Amino acid sequence: MEQTLSIIKPDAVAKGVIGKILDRFESNGLKIAAMKKVQLSRQDAEAFYAVHAARPFFNDLVDFMVSGPVVITVLEGENAILKNRDLMGATNPKEAAPGTIRADFAENIDANAVHGSDSAENAAIEIAFFFSGREIS
Ligand code: TYD
Repeated sequence: MEQTLSIIKPDAVAKGVIGKILDRFESNGLKIAAMKKVQLSRQDAEAFYAVHAARPFFNDLVDFMVSGPVVITVLEGENAILKNRDLMGATNPKEAAPGTIRADFAENIDANAVHGSDSAENAAIEIAFFFSGREIS
């Protein structure tokens, strides 16, 4: 079974659609193996998105990620990484396929409702960033 990291971002938490997004995961064969709601510190957000540090949108992205609480989950299932990316839809909600999380719950590319690991390597790094082994079951 594969695992991936999902973050329900501050815009979706503020909108009150945590339950609706979690339902997308559970209804599509992704088990919630770990979950917590946290207010990220600036240090957390900068470290988590370090790969984007040189991009022009980095500061706005960090500002956004600390603008309110997020819900972080480990999702588990067959092809969990790709399945989650399919459920999320394209990074820009305007380009996201109908019925995807971003098409249904996100406003724009800056506030796009969810994060999902994009590779097995990053999934392992991102899961270890937020969870200890005993928090995952
Ligand atoms: P990226 O890893 O490219 O997308 P995804 O979240 O689909 O894996 O980018 C990370 C986040 O950075 C993205 O969810 C939103 C933000 N972002 C912008 O704000 N502007 C941009 O032009 C891009 C590419 C990303």
